[in-house]
Amino acid sequence: MTQLPHVFVTRRIPEIGLRLLRAACVVDLWDDDMPPSAQDLRAHASDCDGLLTLLTDRIDGDLLDACPRVRVVSNLAVGYDNIDVAAATARGVIVGNTPGVLAETTADLAFALLLAAARRLPESQAYVRAGQWQTWGPLLLLGAEVHHATLGIVGLGSIGRALARRARGFQMRVLYSGPTRQPDAEAELGVEYAALPDLLRAADFVSLHAPLTPVTRGMINTETLRQMRPSAILINTARGPLVVTEDLVNALRAGIIAGAALDVTDPEPLPADHPLVGLPNCIVVPHIASASGPTRDRMAEIAARNLMAGLRGEPLLHAVNPAAIGIGRQVEPRDYV
Ligand code: GLV
Repeated sequence: MTQLPHVFVTRRIPEIGLRLLRAACVVDLWDDDMPPSAQDLRAHASDCDGLLTLLTDRIDGDLLDACPRVRVVSNLAVGYDNIDVAAATARGVIVGNTPGVLAETTADLAFALLLAAARRLPESQAYVRAGQWQTWGPLLLLGAEVHHATLGIVGLGSIGRALARRARGFQMRVLYSGPTRQPDAEAELGVEYAALPDLLRAADFVSLHAPLTPVTRGMINTETLRQMRPSAILINTARGPLVVTEDLVNALRAGIIAGAALDVTDPEPLPADHPLVGLPNCIVVPHIASASGPTRDRMAEIAARNLMAGLRGEPLLHAVNPAAIGIGRQVEPRDYV
């Protein structure tokens, strides 16, 4: 007779994570390309001791009440706005995430989007594919210059810092805004602090790297878009709801800003007939910022290790609410034959 915890993994994840979990747990895997519905999530999680979740799963107090054995929720993401952390903490459920390992990869994509939007790469490729390329043209597909331009980083966490390092290679001036000044980053990376309105007024490129919270939700709206330069380009690899979608559509149509490049949107996914998908001055990619094989492997390993540590009542590699472990749900170990 052995006692193994039961866990629900809400989608196929890289093998390295599944292998770790299968060695220590009874794994119920949601083996589908689409996320489980709220009903399916509840049904599969209700008898589990722990959950390995994705940003597409909504975890709230009602769900946790329906899953009284669950004592750890391990999110395979650095962001955890899909989880009601206060509700988890109140129930003694520890929540884990996967910071650190995806910062460089996410910054790569943010910079790729910046370059692609500035130099109009998707439009240029569409032009060639449509057979419109007749000759070299002095005025053909002119874009914005990236080198020596000013980049505004909204939220200088590990991803924002990684982006600042890339920008330095392009001799960009880098401004940052956020809740606190970071003298170490100013010294190390040569970045300059600016209040958000000043950053928006000065930046040629504005890249969002803030978490989604009640304070940051909708921070880019008609008012703040109007503070940006008409030539500016907005990049979002953070969370879609930082931007008021309708306001961005209007700003792009009216030329209030020049362009946008979005890895994340609100809603997500965007329907193919959504205005943002059709606008020539907007690039949309499907939330792929951390999508490299090695990075997703590292995320899966951390998420699995977080889950197993939480099940053992040990500190997680990365916990969002470490205080919860002191509260801890008291659950009898199960018998599993
Ligand atoms: C992806 O968006 C993440 O939060 O890791």
